[in-house]
Amino acid sequence: VAELVWLNGKITPFAQARVGLEDRGFQFADGVYEVVRFYRSRCFTLDEHMERLEQSATALRIPLPLDRVQLKQAIIDLVDRGGEGEGMVYLQLTRGEAPRAHPFPDTAKPTLLFYTRPLPAPWRPGEGDGIKLFSAADERWKKCWIKSLALLGNVLAKQQAIENGADEAVFIDGEIVTECSASNIFCVKRGSVYTHPVGPKVLPGITRLVVAQLCKQMNVPFVEAALTPREMQAAEEIFITSTTRELAWVREWDRKTVGGGKCGTLTKRLHEGYRDRVRAETGAT
Ligand code: PDD
Repeated sequence: VAELVWLNGKITPFAQARVGLEDRGFQFADGVYEVVRFYRSRCFTLDEHMERLEQSATALRIPLPLDRVQLKQAIIDLVDRGGEGEGMVYLQLTRGEAPRAHPFPDTAKPTLLFYTRPLPAPWRPGEGDGIKLFSAADERWKKCWIKSLALLGNVLAKQQAIENGADEAVFIDGEIVTECSASNIFCVKRGSVYTHPVGPKVLPGITRLVVAQLCKQMNVPFVEAALTPREMQAAEEIFITSTTRELAWVREWDRKTVGGGKCGTLTKRLHEGYRDRVRAETGAT
């Protein structure tokens, strides 16, 4: 996968693309983003990502320079040009470049860019080492449903997790588990899947959406509820989801083994269902 950038309508090699230093994305994190996975150069759940992008952009009142059909086509074309392979598209939309001042500028044109990046194949269902979680206080803003560029709370929590030998930070809001620094979190209790509702405290993950659809197909109750860390840690299975990781089973939480230290059977079945959807939509094996 070659690293190309689409920046405001022009395609260049990655190293040649430039954005001004008064871009509001840089100075105020005044923008939104998306991460879309492609398999064998075919985008997965692109419509769902476009829908969420439109919702995020509308929330910040940043107009998208392209309509959905044009933007999808531009993304598909760029992925095609990158050559056969597995990877992700990172897309970013900011309010644009203007002399620094907090209010919305009158004149700025939004900056829209996206680029491709190769990614290693995710773990196969049931395989891998398992994720180690480390708890962090959820001190983020209360509009987590917007996929905002302002990720400092996420970055600090993730770094703390890494420095404690873990892979991912799990946010605790008071007594409640919300989500992770870059993924949604679920547990399995007596055959039902539990996760926190999306909205002020949780991003509506696209992988989460697919998991909800798979649960419906498989007649597995999908329960949106606020659980305490203790309730989650006692569950039979715990897994996290994101575009880049798909479903990943959790082995440890604050250095204690959870879920029996192995991938749970329902987690594995859901991941297999997810891979089936990937195959059906992209032809990837
Ligand atoms: N992160 N919650 C948060 C806070 C996230 O940042 C992400 C994704 C998710 C999962 O959403 P999805 O299934 O749509 O990828 C949940 C991306 C991958 C990132 O920031 O790189």
